[in-house]
Amino acid sequence: MTDALAAVLPRVAERVPRVRLGDWPTPIDSLAGLGRADLFTKREDLSAQAYGGNKVRPLETMLAWYVHRGAERVYATGAWGSNQALATAVHARRVGLDAGALLFPQPASPSAALNLRALLSVGADVQLLPTIALFPAAAARAALLGRLRSGRDVVMAPGAATPRGAIGHLTAALEVALAVHEGRLPAPRHVVLPVGSTCTSAGLLAGFAAAAHLGLGFTDGPPLVHAVRVTPWPVTADFRILGLAARTAALIEELGGPPSPSPAALRARLRTSSAFLGRGYGRRTPAGDEATAAFAAAGGPRLDCTYSAKAAAYLLHTMPSLEGPILFWSTKSSPPLPPTHPEAVADAPARARRWLARGLVD
Ligand SMILES: Cc1ncc(COP(=O)(O)O)c(C=O)c1O
Repeated sequence: MTDALAAVLPRVAERVPRVRLGDWPTPIDSLAGLGRADLFTKREDLSAQAYGGNKVRPLETMLAWYVHRGAERVYATGAWGSNQALATAVHARRVGLDAGALLFPQPASPSAALNLRALLSVGADVQLLPTIALFPAAAARAALLGRLRSGRDVVMAPGAATPRGAIGHLTAALEVALAVHEGRLPAPRHVVLPVGSTCTSAGLLAGFAAAAHLGLGFTDGPPLVHAVRVTPWPVTADFRILGLAARTAALIEELGGPPSPSPAALRARLRTSSAFLGRGYGRRTPAGDEATAAFAAAGGPRLDCTYSAKAAAYLLHTMPSLEGPILFWSTKSSPPLPPTHPEAVADAPARARRWLARGLVD
């Protein structure tokens, strides 16, 4: 099993604490069933049997960092149906950390409700805020209490969107470069993915730039990253994606990797779109539903209405105007969710139980 970071940037790999949580490399499959022979998908949805999708890679670096710093409990942050919170709760215990989650409400949907039900069952300290307005104060309070406990509680940024988290996704970009280099994949000219916290998009931008600089895989330059907004601007503003990509590249350079690309070089490889967000985060769209059906008919990975369906809708709409091989980044975890414990769900606040009931019949 290849560890792409160790294979391509061994000095960096030696200096970044990481724990192994996923099954790497994730497969790259054809999506030719959607009518185009040069359409592929990177199966990040298969990153870990225990659950996780695209959340596993940043957890490998973040959880290792927290253990290294002597933390005992990690709080994930996000919406009530957060994949990040569930993935953190599932994987933290594998490295000896307790888990918590600070969550703000989102529209009820089946995938969000299933996630929260599983999260409540996993046994984390789940704090369900009644409104997003309380989120900044709750996160600041938890961070302060953590510091008062001598750093034993730590609060992770939403989506682990920090340079250290993005190194996980940079590693995925290096996996793609290795696949191209070894002749297993034609060099993608376009990579399409949902952008929620910016961590994945930023890490990929930095990783593709690093691979191209090293002459690995992308001899015609790095692919264009199409980041399809599933959370609104300014959360996913271009400057935030590019800023995180630049800070990730700078950290890699500092750790012995290739020189950072210029801001203009990074900017030239990013295209964002808000056109498939619909009425907002977590809200299902007709175009997303159509894309979900098209993927199912073509034997592609299963999509979820909050994230991957919106990116897939963009893909289907934009594909006819794109030249050269395309790689769709499949982000929503495919393996079965952790088991539900009805008594843990019964203890949830009444508002959360009503929300779960709405989502599960949706
Ligand atoms: C299934 C899924 N896809 C895509 C994303 C977006 O990734 P990122 O937060 O790294 O922008 C997320 C996270 O929010 C997610 O859970």
